[in-house]
Amino acid sequence: MKEVIHEMISEKQIEEKIEELAKQLNRDYEGKSLHLICILKGGVFFFTELAKKIKVPVTVDFMEASSYGNATVSSGELAIDKDLDEVIIEGKHCLIVEDIIDSGNTLSLVKKMLMARNPASLKCCTLLDKPDRREVEIEVDYKGFIIPDRFVVGYGLDYAEKYRNLSYIGNLEFIEE
Ligand code: IMP
Ligand code: MG
Repeated sequence: MKEVIHEMISEKQIEEKIEELAKQLNRDYEGKSLHLICILKGGVFFFTELAKKIKVPVTVDFMEASSYGNATVSSGELAIDKDLDEVIIEGKHCLIVEDIIDSGNTLSLVKKMLMARNPASLKCCTLLDKPDRREVEIEVDYKGFIIPDRFVVGYGLDYAEKYRNLSYIGNLEFIEE
């Protein structure tokens, strides 16, 4: 099988969207500090670009949560592979930064786990949202692009750990050779 990628969202479109999201965050968190929580690995490309555009005081931390393995269909299994370095988030305004929300299982579990640690607030920001595939109801506070039910790669998103470094987002297709 040959893997072919069709560009769906260009680098320029992503940059403009990140600018927009940062503006919104700068408004909403004015006068506050923001604790940014990146969901590894996929979220990291979006996370760093977004963080650089935020004007309120920012601290960062990273968490690895996975529900996919090497398949394109969710296993339904979820694991916290790496917890935050600083587990105490009590009193902090936290924003979870994700690459994509698909079934919603990852975010739902991460949110529940973090809420139990009493943050001052907990919101989430995702670059991509695939609402057609939602399995759990979840509030997404900030979203970049709403996309149809297609498997996408690039800008942090992978297929079997490949393609994360693409500067754009593309739809991955498998073609018989
Ligand atoms: P959820 O738990 O089903 O919402 O899935 C969230 C995670 O699944 C994301 O953080 C991604 O790592 C992965 N994922 C979901 N859809 C895609 C996709 O289209 N391409 C690559 N990874 C995906
Ligand atoms: Mg991910």
